[in-house]
Amino acid sequence: MTKPIQAIRGMNDLLPEAAERWRRIEQRVIAVLDAYGYREIRLPIVEMTELYARSIGIATDIVEKEMYSFNDRNGDSLTLRPEGTAGCVRAGIENGLLHNQIQRLWYCGPMFRHERPQKGRYRQFHQIGVEAFGMAGPELDAELILMSARLWRALGVSDLELQINTLGTPHSRTEYRQHLVAYFESKRAQLDEDSVRRLGTNPLRILDSKNPALRELIQQAPNLLDHLDDDSRTHFARLRQLLDGAGLRYIVNPRLVRGLDYYSRSVFEWVSPRLGAQATVCAGGRYDGLVEQLGGKATPAAGFAIGLERLVEICAAHDGVSPNASVQVYVAMLGEPAERMGMQLAERLRDRGLRVVCNSDGGALKNQMKRADRSGAIFAVVLGDDECRSGQVSVKSLRADEPQQQVAQERLAEHLSRRLNIAHT
Ligand code: HAM
Repeated sequence: MTKPIQAIRGMNDLLPEAAERWRRIEQRVIAVLDAYGYREIRLPIVEMTELYARSIGIATDIVEKEMYSFNDRNGDSLTLRPEGTAGCVRAGIENGLLHNQIQRLWYCGPMFRHERPQKGRYRQFHQIGVEAFGMAGPELDAELILMSARLWRALGVSDLELQINTLGTPHSRTEYRQHLVAYFESKRAQLDEDSVRRLGTNPLRILDSKNPALRELIQQAPNLLDHLDDDSRTHFARLRQLLDGAGLRYIVNPRLVRGLDYYSRSVFEWVSPRLGAQATVCAGGRYDGLVEQLGGKATPAAGFAIGLERLVEICAAHDGVSPNASVQVYVAMLGEPAERMGMQLAERLRDRGLRVVCNSDGGALKNQMKRADRSGAIFAVVLGDDECRSGQVSVKSLRADEPQQQVAQERLAEHLSRRLNIAHT
């Protein structure tokens, strides 16, 4: 027997039931993004490798060891996108969307990172991301955070914790970096191998270390908030005022540094107490320098991305989301004339917006009714030779114990629409 080929580790199939659930959640998220005036942009999944090196940063985990990069037939180094911000900025510059303009954009799709797979961490995962361009003030940072808070409300998720921090400007961060390096150099003997390496490449990331042995050391490290430039300090204070004014609860986490280099000033994460080690459902911040860094004219910008696998996982517990895509009507057909007539009838029902499945490959009525039940339909329509002759069909409720009804074929669409509306209110 030939050995079946399996999916790649960390890359999951979404089977129909899960896919339906995802779609419902995505639709709710998109409805909220619409309410804030964000518009969809669809971007390529593959970009030049250099785009990520220049934006996310060469000393980050993503660029150092997690990218799916390959040479294409022309010898260009290409990469499966590990995130959406860089591609969105690239597209914005290339299509003239950014300079002296305000843009509010969103995208949705798969991202790829070669991380060690575990619950909540995959090699192909999905994000809904938003990016806003052309607004420098903290009102935009607040808008993004309020919009994400509204998303959780729309999905019935109530226990996420908001953490915020400011990373200052690149200039103030360089100065802080010197203090941090001096501090960790003096404690070098206590650092783990990863942190010693980061000391030379990306010392801020040591603050993000998950090693419990370093907790104490990190607690006592110099605090970025003490080294902020005045503008960043004012920006952060104003953001806090806006969040307080909106009645949003948050904690200031000075160790929140994010794993991508492009951030400046405000950063934030929404963390779930129910997700274990991979607890961040949504993360983002301001990245005022990135557009210029990628060759565009200086443009302030900020955004965030939601990890859909993690969002779906926490929505599962709250069932605020109701099904809306399941089959409504199953057409059972006995004999060749009934099959012909049944398919035409089903088309007419679909013209009226009903979701209809026709039986295929024949079978006894009993078997067809079993399939009807398994399809999830609410009504079965039964057609046999008698019905073909009489111009009637039998309508049977599959979910309620009530007598079968005879309905004239030309009235069937109206009859079912009425009954389904009743069933849905
Ligand atoms: P990120 O923090 O790398 O930021 O990813 C955002 C979210 O994607 C995470 O909080 C998590 O929910 C999800 N995620 C990341 N990696 C994985 C994985 N391996 N498996 C499952 N879920 C994952 C960004 O990607 C930025 N582009 C966000 C942003 C947009 N900042 C500004 N604009």
